[in-house]
Amino acid sequence: MRETGLIKSLRSVRLFSEREIPDAVLLDILDAGRWTGSAKNTQPWDLIVVKNRESLGALAKYGRYAGHLASATLAIALVMRGDDAPTLMDEGRLMQNLMLAAWAHGVGSCIASIYPAANEQRARELLGIPPDRHLRTVLSIGYPAGPQALRLPANAPIPRGRRPMADARST
Ligand SMILES: Cc1cc2nc3c(=O)[nH]c(=O)nc-3n(C[C@H](O)[C@H](O)[C@H](O)COP(=O)(O)O)c2cc1C
Repeated sequence: MRETGLIKSLRSVRLFSEREIPDAVLLDILDAGRWTGSAKNTQPWDLIVVKNRESLGALAKYGRYAGHLASATLAIALVMRGDDAPTLMDEGRLMQNLMLAAWAHGVGSCIASIYPAANEQRARELLGIPPDRHLRTVLSIGYPAGPQALRLPANAPIPRGRRPMADARST
């Protein structure tokens, strides 16, 4: 695979198989996240691995499109210190690194946005997170349930694919 092949083949996976994730694989995913660069190297995150099925089911209700959390093998909650622009950038970089690291192991993932604020508060209480921390995103993790898990269903309300390279301009 060309090096960018890993990046280009990363798709959101919302259908998961029952195959267990080995501890060594999970640790490597978390370690790759740990190496994410952040503004001034503040590393403004703590990660919580959620395996308890009841907790996954509850989190799945704390976002309009968070339903895939209920059937994930496990989830990683991104607990962030702050909501300024650099911290939001750090969160995105951390999330992408976790997703790419998982995909390098053949493990699928999908972001679940936790909102509105009342749901974020419920999620904080569920996971015992102090009120001065943010929990905007949780990542579903699991091996894909076959090739169909890499495609959006035809009736999905969001567009597929990407804008064409021909849209690119240089000045
Ligand atoms: C900031 C952000 C929030 C997202 N929130 C959700 C979400 O709540 N539920 C969901 O199913 N997908 C969510 N996604 C995944 C996007 O829908 C997905 O990345 C996009 O449709 C492109 O599809 P692909 O990842 O399969 O290429 C989110 C993605 C980003 C970057």
